[in-house]
Amino acid sequence: MSERKGIFITLEGTDGCGKTTQAKLFKEYFLELGLDFLLTREPGGTVIGEAIRQVILDPRFEEMVPETEMLLYAASRAQLIKQVILPALEAGKVVLCERYVDSSIAYQGYGLGRQYVKKVRAINELATDGLKPDLTFLYDTDPEIVLNRAIGISSDEGISGGDRIERRVPAYHARVRWGYLRLAEQEPERFVVLTTKDKSPQEIFASSKKVLQERFAGIFTS
Ligand code: TYD
Repeated sequence: MSERKGIFITLEGTDGCGKTTQAKLFKEYFLELGLDFLLTREPGGTVIGEAIRQVILDPRFEEMVPETEMLLYAASRAQLIKQVILPALEAGKVVLCERYVDSSIAYQGYGLGRQYVKKVRAINELATDGLKPDLTFLYDTDPEIVLNRAIGISSDEGISGGDRIERRVPAYHARVRWGYLRLAEQEPERFVVLTTKDKSPQEIFASSKKVLQERFAGIFTS
């Protein structure tokens, strides 16, 4: 793998956890600091990745098997890494990515069934060539409350609105949340878990900013 000079930060959490709002606040902060940064997201972030995103999230493709799903996310990721993330890191930029490998382990691994965790890890080792974030923020939220509010009323059969993943049953999203929390336990150095319950986006961001300033003093100032 080529030499990295930048900082790689990822944002994770179940659907509707507020990471896109947080990404906007990070962007304002980075602009204020005059940092050289790159904001990107998964699945997508490249023309090929956006095309793959359409296929993955299309509600018509209910028959998609877990292996196809994990490979498609990994394919979009491989493209994003080589085309966008690595060049930015090599140029010394701060890279902030909404979702990364942890999303696949949580959604395609723990969410679809514990037996898939190993496969998802193996596929992603290949897709990422071992590139890991320096820091990961996990916005921990009760997915059921958020999904009900955002896209429709859930039942044991699933959720009426939303994309192919959002439509999955509440128990699926609960497993994804549980998976994320296990991942954070396994790598406490990399993960920062922020509970979103009863907190405003600004309050949550203030906690994230404090972490950045502690971990990378000199780059992130107040
Ligand atoms: P995203 O655009 O982040 O949706 P949202 O902003 O609603 O959270 O991600 C799209 C969906 O893809 C989301 O339901 C999470 C899912 N996903 C996976 O299942 N595996 C993955 O590896 C990634 C990156 C996303």
